Amino acid sequence: MQEHADKQRQSGKTITFVPTMGFFHDGHLSLMQKGRKMGDELVLSIFVNPAQFGPNEDLDTYPKNLERDLELAEQQGVDIVYTPDTELLYPEGYQTFVSLETLPNFLCGISRPLFFRGVTTVVTKLLNIVKPHAAVLGEKDFQQLAIVKQMVKDLNFDVEIISVPTVREPDGLAMSSRNSYLTPEQRPCALTLYQSLCRARDLIEEGTTRAAEILESAARLVTSYPETEIDYIAVSDPVTLVDIETIDNPVLMAMAVKVGSTRLIDNMILTPQ
Ligand code: PAJ
Repeated sequence: MQEHADKQRQSGKTITFVPTMGFFHDGHLSLMQKGRKMGDELVLSIFVNPAQFGPNEDLDTYPKNLERDLELAEQQGVDIVYTPDTELLYPEGYQTFVSLETLPNFLCGISRPLFFRGVTTVVTKLLNIVKPHAAVLGEKDFQQLAIVKQMVKDLNFDVEIISVPTVREPDGLAMSSRNSYLTPEQRPCALTLYQSLCRARDLIEEGTTRAAEILESAARLVTSYPETEIDYIAVSDPVTLVDIETIDNPVLMAMAVKVGSTRLIDNMILTPQ
């Protein structure tokens, strides 16, 4: 992969990269579509990265369908699909990890303490292997996007990070590979995340400026559904991710909710009038 990237670069071609863990849905496809429009060569990776899963998380059951993924990637005009295995990326004796000081201490990082260290480590490795000019990431994982952008800036990676808006099901549920875990009974409960975000947007449009009011309203909505458990709901500064009390500038509302045993996340930027 590195030799190939060098050749492409030497011949003046630009490389665009979409890192994924596979089991594609329309969110992944929209990243590929964005990437296809950008460089000469579009490289995609599929790698379920053990370093970003906690001991009691779903590494072993993470959904997979490589054959279907390859077909979809081909349809989107992807040139290369890079599918390393764990032994290749983390051979015996592996010992280097990349982690940020501050941004991982908020939101998802609180209940998943090693998650972002795993993400930044594997993204670093993949950027060094694929050597892209640009990489495309989704706003669905807002904190991941913020952390990768910060890392690229801090460590002088020579790559441009491009973001793509969240792709949703017709009823508003943010697309996620983990939605496949939901039972038919749980599926309507999963909508509570998007509904909470929309309600917050309405409250802000009506003039609410107190974050506490928005958080209470969202918590009430989430807990009105069966089988739901709030991990966090936050109104935060979209740059620092620090909690906001009074909303007088655009804020990030982000949340993680367990529906049964499936942990779902969603977010929206809320802009006061
Ligand atoms: P994965 O969950 O497979 O997501 C791959 C990319 O697709 C991420 O950039 C994610 O933000 C984006 N994405 C997921 N759902 C989306 C949606 N509904 N709309 C738009 N984009 C969406 O995120 C990861 O993998 C991993 O952490 C990875 C970055 C590959 C590192 O292992």
